[in-house]
Amino acid sequence: MSAPGSTGSILITGIGSLVTNEPALGTGPLGILHDAAVVVADGRIAWVGPADTAPDADTRHDAQGRVVIPGFVDSHAHLVFAGDRTAEFAARMAGQAYAAGGIRTTVAATRAASDAELAANLDRLVDEAARQGTTVLECKSGYGLTVDDEARALRLASAVTDEVTYLGAHVVAPEYADDPAGYVDLVTGPMLDACAPHARWVDVFCERGAFDGDQARAILTAGKKRGLVPRVHANQLRHGPGVQLAVELGAASADHCTHLDAADVAALASSDTVATLLPGAEFSTRAAYPDARRLIDAGATVALSTDCNPGSSFTTSMPFCIAIAVREMGMTPDEAVWSATAGGAAALRRTDVGRIVPGVRADLVELDAPSHVHLAYRPGVPLVRTVWRGGAAVA
Ligand code: NIG
Ligand code: FE
Repeated sequence: MSAPGSTGSILITGIGSLVTNEPALGTGPLGILHDAAVVVADGRIAWVGPADTAPDADTRHDAQGRVVIPGFVDSHAHLVFAGDRTAEFAARMAGQAYAAGGIRTTVAATRAASDAELAANLDRLVDEAARQGTTVLECKSGYGLTVDDEARALRLASAVTDEVTYLGAHVVAPEYADDPAGYVDLVTGPMLDACAPHARWVDVFCERGAFDGDQARAILTAGKKRGLVPRVHANQLRHGPGVQLAVELGAASADHCTHLDAADVAALASSDTVATLLPGAEFSTRAAYPDARRLIDAGATVALSTDCNPGSSFTTSMPFCIAIAVREMGMTPDEAVWSATAGGAAALRRTDVGRIVPGVRADLVELDAPSHVHLAYRPGVPLVRTVWRGGAAVA
């Protein structure tokens, strides 16, 4: 999902409903246009407007009245790993609680895997996401936890996306179980040296059993000094300092946001830090969902993402996350679709994706449906029909 290809121009016409995410272009907050067309040229959106006034192009695609939306921007995923944790999931569904310590199971499998095995698993997941409409994907390290294994994960991730995140601070590596301070020194020292050249972002799992507020501050600050921008796994399993820290350090996003107090909500609402909600994690850990309604009503920017990982959320499906967010988290279908597209773009500080307006990257999804509302109204149904990324059909 890096460098999109360029193609001849394409006229996509017969669009029954076009979600532009640009209120000035259409009706409502999603800027919806009916009976619309889009022209794509050189990988970008060249023209948007009524179908009956559309210019010509080299090729033509008739959407036959279907809805077209911006490609999904999945701003939180952990895709460089080996093995799976089926047994842990089954045990949870039989009543066991989720524990962050399960991460170490995947660390052992990942360290034992070859580069080719990790790359094949990564490619399979990226393809799976693309077939479900994801056109931008963030990818974290965090299952290596040695200098070489973390750098390897970031190199592999760089082959599939520009949105690469250094998460050496996922949990304390097993070798450092008795010396967490020594592990923080590693993460902020030699591991950062090896990883910073391959990453755009630095992330920390700020949680009891992983890293406390002081450790997280040290790691994120060290990353910032190396030019990485913070994002934080914050307030997932219980209330903690993660959200306040994210806002204080100017993080692009605070992710999970499941256990928030009024001060956390206020801090997010008055900052540029996006609250990224990951309903797949609550689904797969059988936990209470975050309260999107409360965040939106307070004025926070909310993104939706999959958190795809083998432990707490083994899904690449943004439509699944939208459906849960609408049913369980108080979001309207309009809000959920916005959060899964423009919201994700905001969480990655991108202005070139997440909307369908002239000049931006041509990332579009045609659904086998007349309206974007069907993403929540018809849960579990494979509605994604055509996906263009950078103007090239990828699914
Ligand atoms: O975002 N919270 C920390 N990391 C992942 C879980 C990783 C795992 O269980 O393997 C998450 O949910
Ligand atoms: Fe995560």
